[in-house]
Amino acid sequence: MRLPMRVGVFDSGVGGLNVLAQCMRQLPEVQYYYYGDNANAPYGLRQKEEVVRFVDRAMEQFASLHVDAAILACNTVTALCARELREKYPFPIIGMEPAVRPAASVCRDVLVLATPHTVQSERFRRLVNAFPNCRFTVYALPRLAGEIERCLARGTMLTLSDHLPDCSPDGVVLGCTHYIYFRREIARFYACPVFDGVSGTVNRLERVLFGRAETEQTGIGDHHCPATN
Ligand code: DGL
Repeated sequence: MRLPMRVGVFDSGVGGLNVLAQCMRQLPEVQYYYYGDNANAPYGLRQKEEVVRFVDRAMEQFASLHVDAAILACNTVTALCARELREKYPFPIIGMEPAVRPAASVCRDVLVLATPHTVQSERFRRLVNAFPNCRFTVYALPRLAGEIERCLARGTMLTLSDHLPDCSPDGVVLGCTHYIYFRREIARFYACPVFDGVSGTVNRLERVLFGRAETEQTGIGDHHCPATN
């Protein structure tokens, strides 16, 4: 009997559960391990060295579980250290990027919401620069991921409009997996489609594990799930 493939899914907290849910829907034959670093979340305002130390602990655990692949279900961690992690660990590490590409393929005026580390990264700058015909409003939200973490884990109140910039885009990219919990509310707030990288990341995992064709051919994890508003 063949043992199931094993995949570790990592996030600073609860955001990556959105990715895990799609993994379980799309690839139910795989065995998953979820590591949410709730004790240290959010990562958005922490120093890179600190984040690398935290993520290393998770990857060590995944290594000891002999995973076939790991997903960084966190845009922030991908932006900060995906490359270093890939050099260090023997299993494939799949990252997540803000879904800029799918948004830019159908929208002209795109708002990108993400953590400060994500928007300040070279990787993100390159991604946005690849679409000169699209106007991007890039907005770093230093506190929203932490508030969502507290809201979901401890039931604290969250006033979304306190965090969202006042503008009228024709598409919004959710560049942090925590924001996906509020995709309907964000879509309603801006009255436009919302994009995230979940299905692209899981398609990538499927290709890495099974060599199946991805349903959309784009970069690492930057596909979209249109909002159902
Ligand atoms: N879910 C993480 C992301 O996608 C949140 C980062 C944080 O902890 O600030 O960026």
